[in-house]
Amino acid sequence: MTPDPHVTAALRPGVRCRLSARARAAQLTDRRHEEILTGLTGGQVAVLERLSSQECRLPVLRRMAGGGPFVDRLLDGGWVRQAVYAGADHLYSIEPVRPRTPPSPGRALSRFTVLRAVAGGLLLESPLAWADLRLHHDAVGRALGRLAGLAGAGASGPAARLLADLQYAGLTTADGEDEDLRLRQWQPHELWFHHRSRLTGRARAGVDFGATWWADGLFDQPPPTAAPRGDGIPLAAADPALVAKTDPSLGQVLRRRRSIREHDDANPITVGQLGEFLDRCGRVAHVTADGRQVTLPYPTAGSTGGLELYAVVRLVDGLSPGLYHYDGAAHRLHPLAAPEPAIRELLNRAADSAGVAAEPQVLVIVSARFGRVMWKYQTMGYGLILKNTGVLFHLMYLVATAMDLAPCALGAGDAELFSRAARLDPAAESSVGEFLLGSRPVDG
Ligand SMILES: Cc1cc2nc3c(=O)[nH]c(=O)nc-3n(C[C@H](O)[C@H](O)[C@H](O)COP(=O)(O)O)c2cc1C
Repeated sequence: MTPDPHVTAALRPGVRCRLSARARAAQLTDRRHEEILTGLTGGQVAVLERLSSQECRLPVLRRMAGGGPFVDRLLDGGWVRQAVYAGADHLYSIEPVRPRTPPSPGRALSRFTVLRAVAGGLLLESPLAWADLRLHHDAVGRALGRLAGLAGAGASGPAARLLADLQYAGLTTADGEDEDLRLRQWQPHELWFHHRSRLTGRARAGVDFGATWWADGLFDQPPPTAAPRGDGIPLAAADPALVAKTDPSLGQVLRRRRSIREHDDANPITVGQLGEFLDRCGRVAHVTADGRQVTLPYPTAGSTGGLELYAVVRLVDGLSPGLYHYDGAAHRLHPLAAPEPAIRELLNRAADSAGVAAEPQVLVIVSARFGRVMWKYQTMGYGLILKNTGVLFHLMYLVATAMDLAPCALGAGDAELFSRAARLDPAAESSVGEFLLGSRPVDG
């Protein structure tokens, strides 16, 4: 990259500057920050006017009366976007997402820094950085490759400037990034997921975050309940009068609830019990006329529903082994023609996850039809789906305990194996939770 770079500055998109030249004051705001500037000099008012109306060269701004420290203050507040040019070539822009934090030392890209395609270029960002770099020119890609060790070191001119700006933005790391638990504990995708599914500097609530209904008018929302696969086997419904008589009190259920990982194969769970369990955990109580809200035994974010229950059956009195989908609208079990090795593998992996030798009598798999939630909720949809899954897990624990069955949640399962076995498109629906269920051993 040649020749030497120059930098222009302007208020970044989304920043509003209300200026009162007479009061010599200004209010800078974006969606989450505000800064009031008072006692401004004429030169500082002129700096704000220039930044609000056009891109101007940074050194020119600094030379304006009272400009230097004032421009730094605006840069530190995260109000200003800087564009770096080499000659006429726009190389990249530094785009703050929050007020500035100290530069990160080091010449290597942080492992949390990711490069992704966006409209009009590439974006280099990290949840640890206060600013993104928006890349506009392929020469920057080559310079980044050098920093990532793909070519010889030795940056000069714009490449040296790029390194300094990556450090300035917080996108690089010193050797010690992973010495403490603080950062070592995070896998990049996990820190990104946490960062992006909460309200942080990049999120604009109601614009690209939250219940924005972004897909309304673009795509149909997936239906409130999954299409039945075949005729299915009707299940007996839980009898509310009997349940009221036989259920222990909530207090007793809460005291008794434990994870039980092994089952009594001499007296296996019956199809009647499985039907009652599914009725009390997954039966659809009501769907609104527009299909947007579903009432279930457990709450879901915005009543969007979208979780499906599958049963991998090894040993159930009255039911053949195999993989079944539970139709919560019709209260039926639909056998799926899953290959036997896949079923054995699912049961085997579940036993491994639970650290026991015996496979469960039933492995309940919770899957998500992602579009039910993501059609309405932007950026935080997957986080909500996992929260819904946690709510359902707890309900399954309580119902199983009340029914004197053996429950145990699992932390992980093979989503690809499940999608193949159930013949699902994993981008549309895939497993998000696994749960062991069976008869309670006498001493359990
Ligand atoms: C989200 C979640 C994931 C879990 N994952 C597993 C697992 O993979 N294997 C396992 O044996 N137990 C798993 N458990 C069960 C916990 O180990 C158990 O709840 C915990 O040890 C407390 O014991 P208790 O349920 O008997 O009170 C999980 C529980 C939850 C809530």
